[in-house]
Amino acid sequence: MKDRYRVLVVGVGKRGLHHASAFQANGRFLLVGLCDIDGARLGAAAEKLGVTAKSTDARQLALALRPDVFCFCTLPSVRAEMVRIGIECGARLVAMEKPVALNSVEGIQIRDMLEAAGLKAVVSHQHRYGAHYQKVKEIVESGVLGRVHTVYGTATGWMMHMLSHLIDYMRWFNGQARADWVMAQASGRGKLTDAHPSPDYIAGFIQFANGVRGLVECGAGAPDVPEVDYWWRKCRIGAQGSDGFADVLTGSGWRVVSKQVSASGAGSMNYDLDMQPYIQQIADWLDDEQQVHPCNFASAWAGFEIMMACCRSAAQGGQIALPLAAAEDELEMLTRALPPRKVLLSMPANAKEYAAL
Ligand SMILES: NC(=O)c1ccc[n+]([C@@H]2O[C@H](COP(=O)([O-])OP(=O)(O)OC[C@H]3O[C@@H](n4cnc5c(N)ncnc54)[C@H](O)[C@@H]3O)[C@@H](O)[C@H]2O)c1
Repeated sequence: MKDRYRVLVVGVGKRGLHHASAFQANGRFLLVGLCDIDGARLGAAAEKLGVTAKSTDARQLALALRPDVFCFCTLPSVRAEMVRIGIECGARLVAMEKPVALNSVEGIQIRDMLEAAGLKAVVSHQHRYGAHYQKVKEIVESGVLGRVHTVYGTATGWMMHMLSHLIDYMRWFNGQARADWVMAQASGRGKLTDAHPSPDYIAGFIQFANGVRGLVECGAGAPDVPEVDYWWRKCRIGAQGSDGFADVLTGSGWRVVSKQVSASGAGSMNYDLDMQPYIQQIADWLDDEQQVHPCNFASAWAGFEIMMACCRSAAQGGQIALPLAAAEDELEMLTRALPPRKVLLSMPANAKEYAAL
């Protein structure tokens, strides 16, 4: 166990700054370097955080610094190469942003590289640390919902931004169950060329191995969450059982209605608060093999497979069995398969994002 784990953060945009600041604020870590291909952004971040070791070349800096934690917060198109650098520089843990990858070709590459290197990795599904998310988890665990038969998640933001989060928290509410199969539909080509490339709308059914049904909807056609004003936080994730339901709204608290109890409370996603325990649990896992991080790669992988299976089903039709048998480029499949029809919206506010074909 080390007093302080040395950290390099690559990609200092919005999330990179969140990570770098949270590592710096935690006494168990020492932020030793920063990298970004955007020199101006890098300079500003280095000055703000008082870090002298900086470079626009991630490999060069990583090999020079040999950090314990290699953290990268690049856009989703940059993944496998960063994991490779993390392995080459001898890091003990790779901390990365969601989604795991843009397709299962790269996803499987990353999974196999991490496995072969025996390297710990975490994927930032940190919304779960919100007090309102924790409350719903506690309610589900308490048994007041009776036999849980359904978990669900909806978000009006598009797939590569939001689906990874939804599936992760649904699996959490469902005891981390793996999925046996998935069946999905998708619509709208407008976001296929976005930096988070996605169909405009995707909706799917998940058969979890414990018999629980999963329902997901992400994008233009997902239902409004009128209790939440902030468009990106119009997400509802919850569980339904024989005796009631409980759900969390990313931007507006939690509620439970069951035979035994009816209650609600406040809460809204907060990056500053959520990053603290996420980062602390990285130190806990590095200190002690038994304290596996809740956002560990294996868990994120199980969610990623579900997301990719949704894409395959939407593109090919029918049910897709899990685990995925072979690597495919799911976005390419969707690009070929999605009809050139404009997506239909669930509410006028979605037009600002999904107006294009
Ligand atoms: N977990 C969450 O709640 C959450 C929230 C928002 C975004 N994200 C995810 O975080 C990731 C980053 O999103 P963001 O909003 O911070 O993006 P951003 O565009 O603000 O930052 C990405 C940075 O990476 C840099 N970069 C790109 N390629 C690089 C390379 N090869 N080497 C070094 N730097 C490189 C870019 O110059 C940019 O500064 C995405 O995968 C996104 O989905 C997660």
